[in-house]
Amino acid sequence: MRNLNQDNITQAVIASFANTDNPRLKEIMISLVQHLHAFARDVKLTEAEWFQGIEFLTGCGHITDERRQEFILLSDVLGLSMLTVALNQHRPPGCTEATVFGPFHVKDAPHYPLGADIANGAKGTPCLVQGRVLNTDGQPVPHAHLDVWQSDEDGLYDVQHEGLAQAQARGTLNADAEGRFHFRSIVAVPYAIPHDGPVGALLQATGRHPWRPAHLHFKVEAPGYQTLITHVFRNDSDYLDSDAVFGVRQSLVCDWVAQADGSYRLDYDFVLNPTQGD
Ligand code: BEZ
Ligand code: FE
Repeated sequence: MRNLNQDNITQAVIASFANTDNPRLKEIMISLVQHLHAFARDVKLTEAEWFQGIEFLTGCGHITDERRQEFILLSDVLGLSMLTVALNQHRPPGCTEATVFGPFHVKDAPHYPLGADIANGAKGTPCLVQGRVLNTDGQPVPHAHLDVWQSDEDGLYDVQHEGLAQAQARGTLNADAEGRFHFRSIVAVPYAIPHDGPVGALLQATGRHPWRPAHLHFKVEAPGYQTLITHVFRNDSDYLDSDAVFGVRQSLVCDWVAQADGSYRLDYDFVLNPTQGD
């Protein structure tokens, strides 16, 4: 362990994990060190550049709190969040595809009866959302639990509004015995992910924009089925081909139909994947 140099330090660090009890942790740490060291060698990382990198990560830590998660944003804009979704969310053809979770989900959002207006005062054009939760045989999944969240017309989630007392444009509902659900909310609009911190500076420095196409988030759960975390996108939205977080899937892009009274309607059916053994 003395006189380590650029040719043998990687092996020395890898050997330092020899006593790791958890085999998965050992595998991850060894691979992480191999790739990190290969990266440093590849770009011939200077000390000043690595210090800048540490300052960047420190900045991500400083801006992160219960309402702001810069590390999730970093993972999202680097495509790492979508890569882990793609690696892990294998579903048979016909199932609704998963996409990125994002940082704006809130546990224990208010529960609403079917038909309720989950906008709860959020600014936006009214929109009726309805559909069914089905299995891969086209049969209804009764009483599936839906967790829904979206931004308002200004492109902000309720948690981004300082001092807002109640949840807005988010809520949970249960589909009925035939798997049907309907609720009122507002039309989704494109919005910029938070870009007033280190991740925004990174986007700017690399000539990238912070915008996401208009979408409505869903988490759909039912016993015996793989939980689905996804969005429904608007097919007339900007940024479908340049989502800042790489989350668009064509199967999730849908027509949000303008109604004669100026409101909108979205019809979307979810198809869940039965878990093994069911
Ligand atoms: C979102 O869709 O809520 C989101 C996803 C990734 C980064 C920021 C926001
Ligand atoms: Fe979103």
